[in-house]
Amino acid sequence: MIKIDKITKSFGAKTVYSDFSLDIPTGSFLAVLGRSGTGKSVLLKNILGILNPEIGDIWVNGLCVNRASQNDLDKMREKCSIVFQGSALFDSLKVWENVSFAFLQKKSYSEKYCREIAYRNLKWVGLESSAELYPSDLSGGMRKRVAIARAVSVNPKIILYDEPTTGLDPITTNMINDLMAEVHDKFKATSIVVTHDLESMYRVCDEAAILYNGKCVFYGPVKNIKTSKNPYVEQFLKGDTDGPMGR
Ligand SMILES: Nc1ncnc2c1ncn2[C@@H]1O[C@H](COP(=O)(O)OP(=O)(O)OP(=O)(O)O)[C@@H](O)[C@H]1O
Ligand SMILES: [Mg+2]
Repeated sequence: MIKIDKITKSFGAKTVYSDFSLDIPTGSFLAVLGRSGTGKSVLLKNILGILNPEIGDIWVNGLCVNRASQNDLDKMREKCSIVFQGSALFDSLKVWENVSFAFLQKKSYSEKYCREIAYRNLKWVGLESSAELYPSDLSGGMRKRVAIARAVSVNPKIILYDEPTTGLDPITTNMINDLMAEVHDKFKATSIVVTHDLESMYRVCDEAAILYNGKCVFYGPVKNIKTSKNPYVEQFLKGDTDGPMGR
């Protein structure tokens, strides 16, 4: 479903990825782990074609996103959703308008229909009563749930989450984890979650990738991770300041 094929991505003198490859099979739920600044958010933006690599290709469902026409990219994005690291809601739109943004934008859907979609998805994340509020009226956890409601409103085939539980209390974290697992079951979507939260990973993911220094230094089933002798995995799980990933 998603194939990252030997990409190099730099910003000025900083190389984030160098000859980086990763294959993500259809229907899997992948956790992407790595130290801050290793390029996890950049990876998600590359998959959606928001950023492009200088070398190599990114394939999503048979489309080479870094070479695709705007028209093909738009079509591909209709079936891909992202929950951004900071939720990225539109401050000037009400919560329900944020959730139905993709439909409101097209103008071919009635307001009644857009409202119905938004209310249905908001109910599902437990926020129906907040539909007429603005994002600034919500807590961080509520904003994340609105972002998830917006992401699922388009029946995605691919869904990308960028640190959906960072900064949330343990109960809200588990609620978000349950939502992600439910979305995965309901839409059979190929899912990727960037997370620092190992409990979330054990709970919802089936594969894990650890990124370091422009490369993938571990890729494998989550169930193998606790017993892995890979030194990168060992350092990451223990949070050691000594190890191949440095301090
Ligand atoms: N648009 C941009 N212009 C210049 N540099 C960028 C841009 N986007 C990302 N970077 C750089 O790329 C590197 C990787 O950034 P990225 O946001 O992907 O890190 P991350 O792994 O998501 O970190 P965190 O865990 O802190 O969110 C960083 O050094 C960042 O400064
Ligand atoms: Mg990030």
